[in-house]
Amino acid sequence: MAEPLRIALAGLGTVGAGVIRLIEANAALIARRAGRPIQVTVVSARDRNKDRGVDLSAFAWEDDMVILGERADVDVVVEMVGGSDGPALALARTTFEAGKSLVTANKAMIAHHGLELATKAEAAKVALKFEAAVAGGIPVIKGLREGAAANEFQRVYGILNGTCNYILSTMEDTGRDFGNVLTEAQAKGYAEADPAFDIEGTDAAHKLSILAAIAFGAKIDFTAVATTGITRIRAADIAQADALGYVIRLIGMAEPGRNGDGPALFQRVHPHLVPVDHPLAHVDGATNAVVAEGNFSGRLLFQGAGAGDGPTASAVVADLIDIARGEIGAPFSVPVSELEALVPAETGHRAGRSYIRFMVTDRPGVLAELTAAMRDAGVSIESLIQKGRTEEGGEVMVAMVTHEGPESSVSEALRLLDGSPSLTEAPLVLHILED
Ligand code: NAP
Ligand code: HSE
Repeated sequence: MAEPLRIALAGLGTVGAGVIRLIEANAALIARRAGRPIQVTVVSARDRNKDRGVDLSAFAWEDDMVILGERADVDVVVEMVGGSDGPALALARTTFEAGKSLVTANKAMIAHHGLELATKAEAAKVALKFEAAVAGGIPVIKGLREGAAANEFQRVYGILNGTCNYILSTMEDTGRDFGNVLTEAQAKGYAEADPAFDIEGTDAAHKLSILAAIAFGAKIDFTAVATTGITRIRAADIAQADALGYVIRLIGMAEPGRNGDGPALFQRVHPHLVPVDHPLAHVDGATNAVVAEGNFSGRLLFQGAGAGDGPTASAVVADLIDIARGEIGAPFSVPVSELEALVPAETGHRAGRSYIRFMVTDRPGVLAELTAAMRDAGVSIESLIQKGRTEEGGEVMVAMVTHEGPESSVSEALRLLDGSPSLTEAPLVLHILED
C-alpha cells in the first residue's frame, strides 16, 4: 500500500478528539477506500496536560500550532480550533505558504476569509476542504458540487444550526424555557465556544453564505446575509404556532434575485413557521436538513446530524480521504476567478405570509390600533388571537397571521406602530415557509 497521508491536528476539543477516535476506529476501512493509510503524526492545542479521553502518546506535540504546516512530517493540516481570525487563520495561511493542504470545520473562518484562502490554495495547487463546516455530518457540500453538479439551483434552504434546532424542538416537546435548554445543548457539545453565535443566527449565516457561494457560483458574502436569531422566541410563540398547525424552525435561505437590472443574491437566516406536513417540520434535536432545488434534479433533501463529535469527524475524514486519493478540486467548486460578485437582492417585492406577535398593554382600543396600522399599510389579516389577559392594564399577547402579501407592507405596518405606548416590546415577525 502507498505511503500514509500524514496529518497534523490543531485543536483537540469536541471535533478534534472525534477525528482521532474515527481515524483509529475505522483505520483499515479508511486505508482501503483512500488507497493509503491516514495517520495523525502531530497534534496541538492550548493545554498539553488536559485529559481528552483519547490517547495522544503516539503523536508528537507542537506548542505553536501556526507552524504545523511547515513540519516535514506533515502532508495535510486539520484545523479544529475555531474562530474567524486568530490562530486558526494564521495556521491556514502558513499551511498554504508551506504548500500543504488544509481541512477545516471552521465556518466562521471560511465565511470571512474563504476567498482569500481559496485563492492561496489554488495558487499553491493544494486542497482547501470544509465539508464539516456546513451541517455537521451531512455531505451537503459534496452533494451540491458533485452529485448535483449538473443542475442550476433555484433555491437552497434549510436548518443549519443544531443548537437552535435542539433548543426549539426541545422547547416544543417539553415546554421548558430557552436558557435551560441552551445549557443542555452546550453540555452535549453542539454549541459554539460562544453560544451567542448559535442563538443569534450568526453560525447559520456563516453556513448559508458558504452553501450559497457553492450553489450559485458566487463570491462568498457573509455580510449580505440578513440575520435574525431565536433569542426572542417564547414558549408562547411555540404554543401559538402549534395551535395554528406549524412548528418554529430557524431557516437559512438563499436564492437568485434582482437588484435594479442586474442579477443579485438573496440570503437570509430567520425563524420561520414551518407547516407540520413539511419535511423540515420533522427535523428535531441537533439534526440539520438542507433542501436544494435543482432545475433537473428537482427537490433534494439532505438530512442528518448537524453537530457533535462523531458526525462532524465523519465529514472531516471524508475530506481527508479525498485528499489521499488526490482529489483536490476548486474549494468553491469553480476557481475563485470565475465566481460572480453578486450584490444583495432587493427585498421590496418579496411576498409571503407572516406571523406577527405583539406584546401590548391590555386596554380598550389596542386591538383597533394594531389592526388600523395593518389596514393603513395594506396588510390583510388571516387570523388574530389575543392571549393571556391578566387584569386591566396588564400585558397580553396578540398574535396575527397575515394573508400573502409584500413583506414590505408588514415592515410599513410596524413602522406605523413604532413608538406606540401600547406596545410593551418590539413586535416579533416570523415568516411562514410555504411548500
Ligand atoms: P472546542 O471543543 O472548543 O475545541 C477547540 C480546540 O481548539 C480545543 O482543543 C482548544 O484547546 C483549541 N484551541 C482553542 N483556542 C486555541 C488557541 N488560541 N491556541 C491553541 N489551541 C486552541 O471546539 P469544537 O466544538 O471542537 O469546534 C472546533 C471547530 O469545529 C470550530 O470551528 C467549530 O465551529 C467547528 N465545528 C464544531 C462542531 C461541533 O459540533 N462541535 C460541528 C461542526 C463544526 P484546549 O482544549 O487545550 O483548550
Ligand atoms: N454550533 C454548531 C451548531 C455546530 O449547533 O450547529 C455545528 O456546526
